[in-house]
Amino acid sequence: MSAQSISADQPASFEFSAENLSWAREQIKKYPEGKQASAVIPLLWKAQEQHGWLPEPAINYIAQLLGMAPIRVMEVVTFYTMFNLAPVGKYFIQLCGTTPCLLRGSDDLVAVLKKNIGEQRHITSDGLFSWLEVECLGACANAPMVQINNDYFEDLSTESFEKLLDDLKAGRDVTPGPQNGRSCSAPAGEATSLTDGSLYAAEGDTPSAGVQAMGADSLANVHEMPAKKVVAVAKEEPAALETSLSPDTKAAIDDKKGEN
Ligand code: FES
Repeated sequence: MSAQSISADQPASFEFSAENLSWAREQIKKYPEGKQASAVIPLLWKAQEQHGWLPEPAINYIAQLLGMAPIRVMEVVTFYTMFNLAPVGKYFIQLCGTTPCLLRGSDDLVAVLKKNIGEQRHITSDGLFSWLEVECLGACANAPMVQINNDYFEDLSTESFEKLLDDLKAGRDVTPGPQNGRSCSAPAGEATSLTDGSLYAAEGDTPSAGVQAMGADSLANVHEMPAKKVVAVAKEEPAALETSLSPDTKAAIDDKKGEN
């Protein structure tokens, strides 16, 4: 990750729009008297959303709103890569370079970024792109991945990443999530576990023989079963559910019934 420096090009002042100020006041109210500093991250995020990045006057403004020393706010800003102290491209790309993504080819994605955009924090002449390497973004099961503005693009290859950048540049719609066709973080090939089709029976289907044979003792562990199966059991043996389950588990089952 490259070090962040404050932009030399600063606005004369910053203040929240009326709407954002009223939102900020609501956030501050969530914290007990004397703990208003706890609202610093949401307020900084809102300021960045309003201005596009965080100029120094915005940091001072938030410090004043929260009764904090500006340096304390600056410490927060410089700790998190989600905050930018200088302008970024319309599409701000955060590339994860931590171990799982590295092992799955993030270096190849860095090469794509350098070829198409340039070095980190450089903004392309059309203002469309800039990028930054960051630490794990919590989508390791779909490595390698990038975050573009507020969306994750996962399971990237050199080819799919090139196409993604081309589509953004051309103004074409793009779809966040895995870029290799798999659903969420489901197995990339054939499923190797939870392959019993009855686990996924639709509401109204006859419960499997195994479910029908379950007694009250087995139902005591019903909260560990997949939601569809829980509903099936609840329909088959409501009396057993009444006597064998804890109030918390019953409430969870009622919720599942409502969802299905
Ligand atoms: S290592 Fe890349 S998302 Fe976790």
